[in-house]
Amino acid sequence: MTDGSRMANLSEVPADSTLLVTLREKRTDETLEAILTRLSDDTIVAFKNQCQHWTDVQLDRGSGAAIREGQVICRKHGATFQLESGDCDFGPCEGSTLVSIDTAVEEGEVRLTDTDYEFVDTGGVERDPDDLSSGGRIGFWAASESRLPR
Ligand code: FES
Repeated sequence: MTDGSRMANLSEVPADSTLLVTLREKRTDETLEAILTRLSDDTIVAFKNQCQHWTDVQLDRGSGAAIREGQVICRKHGATFQLESGDCDFGPCEGSTLVSIDTAVEEGEVRLTDTDYEFVDTGGVERDPDDLSSGGRIGFWAASESRLPR
């Protein structure tokens, strides 16, 4: 039996997008968001919900992150991160790596096994819509979506 809190059923974690969850970092007692996605072999990977270019920019703003061909794409400036490793291989933060969070799948359930965090809930951290420090910078997604790498 795997230790760790149940975060979701495996079937709830998409392969073409992300499931947003809220965690609490034990060391600081602060809440943070994480994104979960499913790889082709049903492995689950999880990362902090932050780009490595501007760490206040969320990869998933509440409706799922953009995922294409095994990569998660930052909507702000188009950085791409390999899902298997979290490594950025294109964009302004090329060479950086997403902060990974340990998970395990057991009997169809996705569990948080990373001892640095506690599971709080599915969904994101509630924010003040006027707070521009939480990813609210003006983006260019709509204009640039068609130019993102395929
Ligand atoms: S904030 Fe993500 S690529 Fe710039």
